[in-house]
Amino acid sequence: MIERAISAFQSIYQRRPTAAALAPGRVEILGNHTDYNGGAVLAAAIDRHICMVGAPNDGRRVRVYSLDFKQTLEFELPDGSAAPPSLGVDWGDLIGAALYCLRRENVPTVVFDAVVLGNIPIAAGLSSSAALTVSTAKLAEQLVCKQAPGDMPAAALTLHKLAQLMQQAEHVGLGVRCGLLDPFTSIHGKQGALLVLDSALGSGTTVPLAQKQEATPAIVIVDSRTPRSLSASRYNERRRECERAFEQLVLTLPHPPAHLCQISLELFGRVEHALEPVLRRRARHVIGEHARVLQAVAALLGGNVARLGALMRESHSSSRVNFENSTERLDLICEVADEQRACLGSRLTGAGWGGCTLHLVQRDAADEFTEFVVREVLERSGATVEAYVTQASDGARAFAL
Ligand code: GLA
Repeated sequence: MIERAISAFQSIYQRRPTAAALAPGRVEILGNHTDYNGGAVLAAAIDRHICMVGAPNDGRRVRVYSLDFKQTLEFELPDGSAAPPSLGVDWGDLIGAALYCLRRENVPTVVFDAVVLGNIPIAAGLSSSAALTVSTAKLAEQLVCKQAPGDMPAAALTLHKLAQLMQQAEHVGLGVRCGLLDPFTSIHGKQGALLVLDSALGSGTTVPLAQKQEATPAIVIVDSRTPRSLSASRYNERRRECERAFEQLVLTLPHPPAHLCQISLELFGRVEHALEPVLRRRARHVIGEHARVLQAVAALLGGNVARLGALMRESHSSSRVNFENSTERLDLICEVADEQRACLGSRLTGAGWGGCTLHLVQRDAADEFTEFVVREVLERSGATVEAYVTQASDGARAFAL
């Protein structure tokens, strides 16, 4: 990808790029919609990326060419006080919003030319947006290092702060009030390991997927190829429902916690009657998901990856019944997948309402599994889905060229 980006840059801008950045997409293993409720998430960066190359330019306008959309966008480097640039296309708005959020924190940035491309499916729930904002921030940081070594680069921001800023970039750029999960995972991913995000603290740790290499299951993603129509507005609506549930629950508690996920399942069982049925189901989902992540981490530390699979199935069923963020097609894919003995567990991953499912599958059976799922889903529903094996990968990086 980097080679393609460099050669496109040279032919468009007639000079060599001086810096490159790569940021991965992510898959949410367990912990659905917990990251804006102070809960835990188990996630991994994947081996699919957004790649950007760039070089400073002498003008006042940032120029970015997208190889995927065959389009160039130009805008003034945002100064962080006025509104972020509105370019009318999501990829441009995200790049503009990422720079705007850096400038708002007074992070030094230069005006630059860039080329961007990626191989993360777009709008499939694998965080191509976070990979885009994080790669923009990493490229901007690298370009400042390159141009004026004495300047304070974006690296002076902690990685934690960078994740928060890129979360805000998505709020500003797309109007989706997402949590910390996507930029956090894209920044902190670790090859061969799962990340455990504690969203109340905004920090995390890692846990191995299996104790022994040969026992490590394959991470299989199935793209349902259903457009996630209205997913932004439904996402924001769920977030509001969780906020309302929390506000009502704290009124019943003598020692109110700071977040919904800090209410234990047991305590929730005693106070849930205070909520109307819809809010009760929403809260049950996120509180249950948080508990499942903690159980999964304990199981993985004890070498019991099969338990993680069982918890993933519980998670999917809770999504279907309580959070109502599944779809018929996502349900069918999980049902077909779980018929295979080699499949340890299946669930929808990410926001829901389309996008992808995630499956843990015995490594030696992964290819047969993916063929089976694609064939069976087509036969039973007429839908063409796409399945591929991925692996837990390292987080974003940038380097001089
Ligand atoms: C989307 C959001 C994340 C998270 C998941 C659901 O991917 O961007 O912040 O809330 O949905 O867990």
